Amino acid sequence: MRKKITIIGAGNVGATAAHWAMTRELGDVVLMDVMEGIPQGKGLDLLQSGPVDGFSYSIVGSNDYRDTANSDVVIIAAGLARKPGMSRDDLLAKNVAIVKSCTEEAVKHSPNCVLIVVTNPIDAMVYTAFKASGFPKERVVGMAGVLDSARYRTFLAEALQVSPKDIIAMVMGVHGDNMLPLVRLASVAGVPITDLLSADKIAEIVKRTQHGGIEIVNHLKTGSAFYTPGLCAVEMAEAILKDTKRVLPCAAYLEGEFDISGCFIGVPVVLGANGVERIIEFQLTAEEKVALAESEVVVRKQMADTGL
Ligand code: LAC
Repeated sequence: MRKKITIIGAGNVGATAAHWAMTRELGDVVLMDVMEGIPQGKGLDLLQSGPVDGFSYSIVGSNDYRDTANSDVVIIAAGLARKPGMSRDDLLAKNVAIVKSCTEEAVKHSPNCVLIVVTNPIDAMVYTAFKASGFPKERVVGMAGVLDSARYRTFLAEALQVSPKDIIAMVMGVHGDNMLPLVRLASVAGVPITDLLSADKIAEIVKRTQHGGIEIVNHLKTGSAFYTPGLCAVEMAEAILKDTKRVLPCAAYLEGEFDISGCFIGVPVVLGANGVERIIEFQLTAEEKVALAESEVVVRKQMADTGL
């Protein structure tokens, strides 16, 4: 049985996710948007790369949720993107309304899907989708940690002059300035980074990771990052569609794990066919606990601001 992936939002992130999903041959893709013509045009353009790239699945652009029926995974990337001077929180009110209506429509037609939320501010938007869908917590997950960890790994690889593939490192917490790039657990093929880099250099990399999104916004001026955000959403979708049980940092709904309850926050999870199949809980140091608690404060404020 062919898998089906719907991507809602045919802007930069959504269209790029569609591109990665096609090249990775995850299944048939529906690119949805309210804008007439945009998803159809981008979908057709991507479809025509099939003979050259050699993929066998189809992609179609649509403005009609009926075309999304029976999707296995729905990626929500609809919403406004950040401009310079705008925090992720400035987007909140506008994107709550968008994510709520997209979720309601999507789950009507795909009641068994797993929802992956990418729209910012991610931790609040995944909560919005959770509320709007009525889905069990396992089937709603936010993309944040994979992107932030990719940035962290990139900067570490640059500093160490090694392949980024060999950097094992994770970012937990909110997708914002209070995110928590874990230093103690970061390694190059198992060798602790603390043995290889000075404390000052590590602190600089941690800070750059925490501000990794705005660094790109400041370059682009008219929007935010999309190549890696699109890929990270697809990385999560692949783990779900292929039931690979990948361990990826994602915004998951916590019920007591890490002493946090009732909110979505970035933690390592096992992703498989059922969505978030397990949260990998481990002992944090006192300092890490404080940092995660700071993330929680930010997330709870965002959640309150959604009015849900
Ligand atoms: C970023 C935006 C998308 O981190 O939040 O690039």
